[in-house]
Amino acid sequence: MASVPAVGLARMFQRKSVGQIQSELEHGELKRSLGALNLVLLGIGCVIGTGIFVLTGHAAAQWAGPAIMISFVITGTLCGLVALCYAELASALPVSGSAYSYTYASMGEIAAWVMGLLLLLEYGLAASVVAVGWSGYFISLLQHDLHLYISPALTAAPGVPVTNEAGAVIGTGIVNLPAIAIITVMTLLLVRGVSESATVNNIIVAIKLTVVIAFIVIGSQHVHPALWSPMVPAQIPAQPPGTPMDLGHQIGRALWEVITGSSTTRYGVGGVIHAAAIIFFAYLGFEAVSTAGAESRNPGKDMPIGIIGALVICTILYILTSAVLVGIVPYSSLNNPAPIATAVNQLGMPWFAILVKIGAIAGLSSVMLVLMYGQTRIFYTMSRDGLLPTSLARVHKTFKTPWINTIIVGIAAASASGFMSLDALSDLTNVGSLAAFALVCVTVVYLRISHPHLARPFRTPLFPFVPVAGAIMCAVLLMSLMATPATRNFFLIYLAIGIVVYFVYGMSHSKLGRESKA
Ligand code: ALA
Repeated sequence: MASVPAVGLARMFQRKSVGQIQSELEHGELKRSLGALNLVLLGIGCVIGTGIFVLTGHAAAQWAGPAIMISFVITGTLCGLVALCYAELASALPVSGSAYSYTYASMGEIAAWVMGLLLLLEYGLAASVVAVGWSGYFISLLQHDLHLYISPALTAAPGVPVTNEAGAVIGTGIVNLPAIAIITVMTLLLVRGVSESATVNNIIVAIKLTVVIAFIVIGSQHVHPALWSPMVPAQIPAQPPGTPMDLGHQIGRALWEVITGSSTTRYGVGGVIHAAAIIFFAYLGFEAVSTAGAESRNPGKDMPIGIIGALVICTILYILTSAVLVGIVPYSSLNNPAPIATAVNQLGMPWFAILVKIGAIAGLSSVMLVLMYGQTRIFYTMSRDGLLPTSLARVHKTFKTPWINTIIVGIAAASASGFMSLDALSDLTNVGSLAAFALVCVTVVYLRISHPHLARPFRTPLFPFVPVAGAIMCAVLLMSLMATPATRNFFLIYLAIGIVVYFVYGMSHSKLGRESKA
């Protein structure tokens, strides 16, 4: 640190002023056409996806058992706290760019850069997770209903065992080709300029809601309450006793045990908390509403309704869906690429199984589009701020879209979805997003102290309890995921490299830095 010149230090913490952000907003060119209902639907469109359609089954089978419903309550509570924080920031600073812009205005450039790194995991990798989920339902529809077979080697990442819907292993993956194909299609659509149109989004949301509600209503008539018992299966060690642990793993595990009073186990209390961290992915996207701040008709009032409304509706649907899912089939049979389809196949209603799969395929496509769109716009904003190369903000002459940036995001997301397992991808996305959410909670506290008189049409109630509790809950779930050495090592190395890139490139190219120097 001592070698960083004082001027460098000042630059790292330079902030866009809140006034600057609000004036960018007043002079924005986007049309203010979205009302509260559109915002709620935008949120639901981005939220319901691979989390509920796939990861719920994985988390129940491997970590929580029937207590997966309790995991959904835990994560729903956490997201409620974070949503209140997002709502306050979105109503006070309703600009595009979301959490990145909030941190730039409050805690300065280095914090905004770190937020950008975290959002890259949240949006960029999340699109890959959704593509793998999409691939699972697509293959299930092809093979189970249309009797068209693809070699298992082409349906999963290298080394991932491929199971059929009965749970039998039928091969090992080499590449997940359908996932790469769908990301390629989404990338082309985004380059061409098909972004979320409110009407298309509303139709897809209607399909998704119909499928989920139909699953709850029809499935609830086939629930065997005996399958819910025991609600929390007895814990077993996550790794066989005697598995060697590196030093970092031992420290992470010891910290985790001290904080939660439980060990990283499969099932038991530790398993329920770990499952809560995994299905956190299912909630991601409610904050995407905040990226539409500049297009909202009455952001002060409608943003909080959009964010909190989408979250409340999804939480209720998730708890009910997970309860029905583990009530129809034994939780141990749900660790496969299309668990809801597995459950529906048990009901003896082939038409309903096909409906669920088509709903999932359509619904997951829209989530991918919104996530990739979000990632390209974050890169775009960072590039306009000078923190990333200007080519990322270059707009195509005909299509008027940031095409270079979109193609880079597409190649990265396609590679990840083709060659990484769903569980590894979702763990990394969750780690990045939990850290980003914690930073949002801290931003609320910071901004209340640094700008006490800023107009805040919406204020989080019970300040400072809400942001502090939100940050602590994020940290607890984060630690649970970091107990896995591969996840922890990737995340820490990724952050370290990212921060070095800031010092080598971002700090000297920052527009704000150059302006203040001039
Ligand atoms: N919450 C979104 C999903 O589950 C990202 O797919």
